[in-house]
Amino acid sequence: MQQKIGVIGIGMVGAPVARYFEEIRGLKRKEGLFLFDTDPKKNFSDDINQADIVFVSVPTPPASDGSSDLSALESVFKKLVENKIVVIKSTVPPGTTENFQKKYRMHKILFNPEFLDAKFNWEQFIKPNRQIIGSTAESEDVSGLILSLLPDAPFKSEIGATEAELVKYASNVHYARKVNLVNVIASLAEKLGANYADIRQAMAADYRIGNSHLDPNFGGYRGFGGHCLPKDTLALIASLEAAGLREEADLIKKDYDYNGKLLKEQGLTWEDIRIK
Ligand SMILES: NC(=O)c1ccc[n+]([C@@H]2O[C@H](COP(=O)([O-])OP(=O)(O)OC[C@H]3O[C@@H](n4cnc5c(N)ncnc54)[C@H](O)[C@@H]3O)[C@@H](O)[C@H]2O)c1
Repeated sequence: MQQKIGVIGIGMVGAPVARYFEEIRGLKRKEGLFLFDTDPKKNFSDDINQADIVFVSVPTPPASDGSSDLSALESVFKKLVENKIVVIKSTVPPGTTENFQKKYRMHKILFNPEFLDAKFNWEQFIKPNRQIIGSTAESEDVSGLILSLLPDAPFKSEIGATEAELVKYASNVHYARKVNLVNVIASLAEKLGANYADIRQAMAADYRIGNSHLDPNFGGYRGFGGHCLPKDTLALIASLEAAGLREEADLIKKDYDYNGKLLKEQGLTWEDIRIK
């Protein structure tokens, strides 16, 4: 019998998940596919508890201390009954999946990081360059099943949930730091009357650096922005502080503050660049 799939949180990440299961895997709404979102305008109010496997992509915004606000995720777990396979796609701090697994023992809980860009969410969801499934001891036996249900990727990996959560932060904070470095080099080039475009092209030719995040004016302003990089940088700082890694937290905080300085110089606030 085919597994029934649920998707909770039909936004930038959840919408392509839902579309994939409907269009590519041919599941019929309310028979094999159940969609739920709290936004009444989106009109997704299927009975999610009819699903066996539930993908969750609800927001995890910064709390007042910079850590992730997991209240939407918590409310999802409160809603789910019986024994389900729950795949968290929301970006969550390292240790979150294990914590939910301890709290909601009836489910098998996994973490599947999503790496898509807001602009190309469908294209990148169906053609990912990596597909990573993070599991707990309780959910390890269904990790292969989840991997087999998702779009294929040249790099596939079944690892621990905490490792998978860290991969997501490592990636986004790496991009944020790269943008900072590029701004440092572009500022120095400007002072010296050097052409940053020439430097950028030559840097991109190094396969260890690559072409992405080398434009200091990406999005029309200097610095990193968008939906995820600022929030995930803050969340990593909070995780480092919680782990007692103060110097490491300070290092990443410098990145966050440097970006804040760049924005301020342009008359922008963090709120201005949070727009997707
Ligand atoms: N946007 C990206 O490019 C991207 C990429 C990778 C990971 N993520 C992560 O994925 C998660 C979701 O991000 P997004 O960009 O899709 O957000 P989004 O705001 O586009 O979508 C989230 C959806 O969840 C709904 N929602 C909120 N609370 C809910 C609840 N309790 N139950 C059901 N639905 C609820 C909202 O109405 C909204 O439709 C975040 O953790 C984000 O960090 C985002």
